Amino acid sequence: MESLFPDFRAGKSKDTISSPIKSSQLDKIKIIGGAQLNGIIPISGAKNCALKLMCASLLTGESVYFDNSPNSLRDMKSQVELLEYLGCVIKRESDVIAINASNIKTYIAPYDIVRKMRGSILVLGPLLARFGKAKVSLPGGCAIGTRPVDLHIKGLEELGAIITLEEGYINAKAPKSGLKGANIIFPKVSVGATENLMMAATLANGTTTLKNAAKEPEISDLGKCLIKMGAKIDGLGSDTIRIEGVKSLNGTHHSIMADRIETGTYIIAAGMAGGTVTLQNARISDLSAVLGHLCQAGIEVEQSGNNIIVSRETSRLQGVDIMTEPYPGFPTDLQAQFMAMLTIASGAGMVTETIFENRFMHVPELNRMGADITTQGNSAIVRGVEKLKGAEVMATDLRASVALVLAGLVAQGQTTVNRIYHLDRGYEDIVGKLGGVGANIKRVSSN
Ligand code: EPZ
Repeated sequence: MESLFPDFRAGKSKDTISSPIKSSQLDKIKIIGGAQLNGIIPISGAKNCALKLMCASLLTGESVYFDNSPNSLRDMKSQVELLEYLGCVIKRESDVIAINASNIKTYIAPYDIVRKMRGSILVLGPLLARFGKAKVSLPGGCAIGTRPVDLHIKGLEELGAIITLEEGYINAKAPKSGLKGANIIFPKVSVGATENLMMAATLANGTTTLKNAAKEPEISDLGKCLIKMGAKIDGLGSDTIRIEGVKSLNGTHHSIMADRIETGTYIIAAGMAGGTVTLQNARISDLSAVLGHLCQAGIEVEQSGNNIIVSRETSRLQGVDIMTEPYPGFPTDLQAQFMAMLTIASGAGMVTETIFENRFMHVPELNRMGADITTQGNSAIVRGVEKLKGAEVMATDLRASVALVLAGLVAQGQTTVNRIYHLDRGYEDIVGKLGGVGANIKRVSSN
């Protein structure tokens, strides 16, 4: 193993990752509301970037090293399971992960792994580009929507791939001469389709232009890593990305960007609970659209070096309207958290969800805590109440779960959040991070 990773930090001989939470389906989080939050919260690497960077490692036979990796997340473990199934050799140590894909032994991403984590679809482009073939299970939908992958498939076909759908699998083959560059216009902005095609195009013959591409910072970070691996990409962060295919890519070292959704979540937590919190190794620049709304609501946020300092300068938060949009608009992944904040703001706020068709599942649970939310199609009117009341609530998806935790921080009495395995997918050690700044929060394990 050592020979594959000569640059790996010496010392530890086995995989050791931070807080290997053994989450079971019945674990709960119990919170007694009312505590202010004061202190420091370390922000982890971005899940929605790390998962794709791991797929990018399939594009080369050399080792790729990532640090600031949120290794303890359940989604990360699922992605490791898939890449090891394909034949990758992976070494993890605290927040470092090293991947070597020199000995891929299968091009099949099986249903029972892909169904656990939809981000697995991102192995499709890299496998097709480097090996000319891939058989990847259709990921299926999830709680927040049907989550089709038609834009991924159509785009790869425009690069010359022959794709058939059989028995729930995407069977993809590249022509003998390999994928060929193409001009692709996305009919709809898609983060995953932009990433899959950007990765596939790095090894295609000729130049590919992606128009109406997604502009999320996670895509720019993925593109920067690909460029370090030898890819020729420009237009990152714009809606037109241009990729000039190269023969092969090499290994590299890359530091994963901070998780902007985790950052936004804890900014809202501090704004709701009151107090002053420093978010360590966090970037405000990735949350431009959110800042204006947070400031309107009465939450003060400032960048100080590599940290963000959050405080609430008014006695009570103000209601604000939000509409989710592709970046740089308000991120859909912060919609539930912002709504939790609106439940205790003065006045009303309107929340409109334009990205996913079923992303209001936190509403009935928040209303059980005494919130006053009425939904109408993809909009919700939130009328602020003086106080929420603690209750037993049910987590349904990753971001809805954390919205319930935020509500529990400010509710009167105890809140128990069930099915917190959803949370373990995307928030590293949330109990430790919130407990560390004064929240009265604990994890109750069922085993
Ligand atoms: C990524 O999902 C994120 N997931 C999501 O975060 C995030 O909410 C989403 O981007 C939007 O920002 C990861 O990065 C792992 P899309 P993705 O393709 O790529 C439709 C979280 O909580 N669409 O931009 O799947 C789709 O149904 C998760 O961390 C098609 O119609 O999102 C949706 O309505 C949730 N056809 C819209 O586009 C396609 O082929 C945006 O989806 C692809 C997408």
